[in-house]
Amino acid sequence: MHPNMKWAIVTGGSRGLGYETAKALILAGFFVYIIGKDEERAQQSAKTLGCKYRAVDVADNEKFRKVLKEINLDAASNGLGVLDVLILAHGVMSEKMSKTLRTTDAEWRRTMSINLDAVFTAVNELAPAMFEARSGRVVIYSACLGRMSGPGTHGGLAPYRISKAGVNAFVKNLSYETGLGARGFLVDAICPGHCRTDMGGPDAPRSAQEGAETAIWLATREFDPTKDKTGLLWEDRKIVDW
Ligand SMILES: NC(=O)c1ccc[n+]([C@@H]2O[C@H](COP(=O)([O-])OP(=O)(O)OC[C@H]3O[C@@H](n4cnc5c(N)ncnc54)[C@H](OP(=O)(O)O)[C@@H]3O)[C@@H](O)[C@H]2O)c1
Repeated sequence: MHPNMKWAIVTGGSRGLGYETAKALILAGFFVYIIGKDEERAQQSAKTLGCKYRAVDVADNEKFRKVLKEINLDAASNGLGVLDVLILAHGVMSEKMSKTLRTTDAEWRRTMSINLDAVFTAVNELAPAMFEARSGRVVIYSACLGRMSGPGTHGGLAPYRISKAGVNAFVKNLSYETGLGARGFLVDAICPGHCRTDMGGPDAPRSAQEGAETAIWLATREFDPTKDKTGLLWEDRKIVDW
């Protein structure tokens, strides 16, 4: 392996937006590890993409952390350095009738543990080394349904919307903790728009490729800390209100 080869971990890389993001990063020359929950699907997707994979339920924070450590060890044994890009594209939608006054503790916990807690676990495990190295990018799939401005949090799907509002708060808070890009570490959230994936359904207006485009751009763009911005929510390469 080339000693300067960049590498990335893409959660949710077994299908949908994560798959498209992984595909583009591989085309851009990255060595990629995808993570999915279902072993067979992750294996098949990795085979098609030509990358490595691990299957783990990210809601199990101990197992998830262990897998991330193992990926780091595997990368090091392949001559790769500190992780360059972490894409968090895993996620679940909450049940149709999950209004605050109707949903349950179990549904709340399921959604939060996957959509928000696992985001913390991944970043807390992997990003300290990236920050230390004064490099690295974290891009997290949020959603318009988590925005506090506009109709994002106008009711319904409470666990999902609030988990994504939490992701937005997480990104903003972390960006301040890490110097808003001045120290070489970038963290951003994106709204992919409504896309044709298993989550978005077959009638969504955008393709998965279109939905993944901004995440790929954030992971690979030139960044000049004197004029470019990080620590924000992006949609179609533009900054949008949280
Ligand atoms: N599609 C949209 O219209 C849309 C709109 C706004 C935001 N988003 C966000 O974009 C991200 C990607 O969405 P998508 O449409 O690509 O979803 P998707 O097609 O349903 O794919 C979900 C991915 O997450 C993984 N995953 C789910 N639960 C997991 C768990 N417990 N442990 C490990 N992996 C798990 C799945 O792995 P398996 O294949 O193993 O199940 C799969 O790779 C999500 O965060 C979603 O909230 C999507």
